[in-house]
Amino acid sequence: MSSLLEVTGIGKSFPGVRALNGVDFSVSAGEVVALLGENGAGKSTLMKILAGVQPPDQGEMKIGGETVSIRSVHEGLEMGVALIHQELNLATNLTVGANIFLGREPRIAGVIDEKAISENAAVFLQQVGLDVAPDTLVEDLTIGKQQLVEIAKALSTSAKILIMDEPTSSLSQGETERLFEVVKELRNDGVAIVYISHRLGEVEELADRVVVLRDGENAGELSRNEINHDAMVSLMVGRDLSQFYSHEPQKPGEVVLCASGIRTPVHSHEEISFELRAGEIVGLAGLVGAGRTELLETLFGITPSVSGDISVGGETVAVTGPRVAIAHGIVLVPEDRKQQGLVIEMAVADNLSLTSLERDQKTGRLNFEAEKSITEEMSEKMRIKTPSSRQVVRYLSGGNQQKVVLGKWLAMKPRVLLLDEPTRGIDIGAKQEIYALMEKLAEEGVAIFFVSSEMEEILGMSDRALVMHEGRLSGVLSREELNEEAVMQLATGRSEAAA
Ligand SMILES: Nc1ncnc2c1ncn2[C@@H]1O[C@H](COP(=O)(O)OP(=O)(O)OP(=O)(O)O)[C@@H](O)[C@H]1O
Ligand SMILES: [Mg+2]
Repeated sequence: MSSLLEVTGIGKSFPGVRALNGVDFSVSAGEVVALLGENGAGKSTLMKILAGVQPPDQGEMKIGGETVSIRSVHEGLEMGVALIHQELNLATNLTVGANIFLGREPRIAGVIDEKAISENAAVFLQQVGLDVAPDTLVEDLTIGKQQLVEIAKALSTSAKILIMDEPTSSLSQGETERLFEVVKELRNDGVAIVYISHRLGEVEELADRVVVLRDGENAGELSRNEINHDAMVSLMVGRDLSQFYSHEPQKPGEVVLCASGIRTPVHSHEEISFELRAGEIVGLAGLVGAGRTELLETLFGITPSVSGDISVGGETVAVTGPRVAIAHGIVLVPEDRKQQGLVIEMAVADNLSLTSLERDQKTGRLNFEAEKSITEEMSEKMRIKTPSSRQVVRYLSGGNQQKVVLGKWLAMKPRVLLLDEPTRGIDIGAKQEIYALMEKLAEEGVAIFFVSSEMEEILGMSDRALVMHEGRLSGVLSREELNEEAVMQLATGRSEAAA
């Protein structure tokens, strides 16, 4: 098979970081190539070069056998290369339809043809299985749905080479399955697809070939019949990983958080009641849109409950805002790290110590010694890859940004830790470290309540799992009752168990 796109000897440096060093990569028409590597390995950097987002320092690029240079995203699109960004890249104040056709609006006599936008957008929305009107504002959609809009937008360009940088990281199982169908249809139509994911199960299902980067260099390739979990992991990490982390349940302590009859503003017709005990790790499963994030946001006071009671350590608390929650030892690590979790223009060290650092009562100065020790401890624990702790967070790779968010909140040593998709976009080595950290915090008596769309994570880490369906708590599964089938039954509303 001759390659549709081929690059050789690609190099790219940023201040203090050699992101890519002599990398070769190719993809053919009708082929799905999975690009793998640990956080910071250089995957997104390489893809941004292919799509014209940024230029390489060195290297050659060919499309259809001809040497090309792609100097802008616009030129990339003209040559048939479209990139679905890892970090969502939508104009959130515009409608879904306006985003899909941004910069390429159909016009009649120079005037934007809104009707054509709506009609055309609807076709691509349907293709990705997203059931929203084209005139919906993007900011009113969940992240999962925003991700589907990004995908619809890329499809609308009729690209010959489609690059997907972690497209499923915030999709539910159902949405992921739909996306897989789309990918397979595109492959049959002869589109060349590059697929980046940290979910190795997806790669096994989809990829015709696997290319692995390690520290900005080619680490190896696997052809279709060589693709398996262990082979991928050992190429990525260059060392053997111990068995995939699994949680050792322990005897839960006393109730630390009790929610009785609470109603979230989004699904205010449903009452939700449950308890969290010290040292317990409780998973919260459900499809995207089931109300999991809303529930966490209500417990944390971002969207206070409409009615019902929340008590912490036996004391009823009116959680009217995050300040109240934090004062009672409840913290939330949000799903959308860019908006809620990070101060993107500040250094790694400042972000890590943001929440836990107290100012000196008298002078109002920050304690720099404390900042240094928190930063060192958390950078090491989380294995954050950065040239220095003074690096601005914006320039870290996606997975490393996620580690900074987690590190920041873990440094606070909370009583109740709410985690929304804690390992989204995190590589397999670092995932295990996050699981180990959750385990360690639970041993120290923290109650952990985590939302995850990854079945393996729910099954592997939960002492108990709550499942939601369309805003209601459709069931609670003990560790003995926990299996994929039971979770899916409850999540899709096919069954209900007594909560
Ligand atoms: N604009 C930039 N300025 C400075 N450093 C950068 C910039 N973009 C990327 N880097 C650095 O280049 C390296 C590769 O980053 P890249 O985003 O390509 O990693 P990745 O493989 O996509 O990781 P992840 O799985 O976490 O998304 C990282 O060390 C990152 O911090
Ligand atoms: Mg990336």
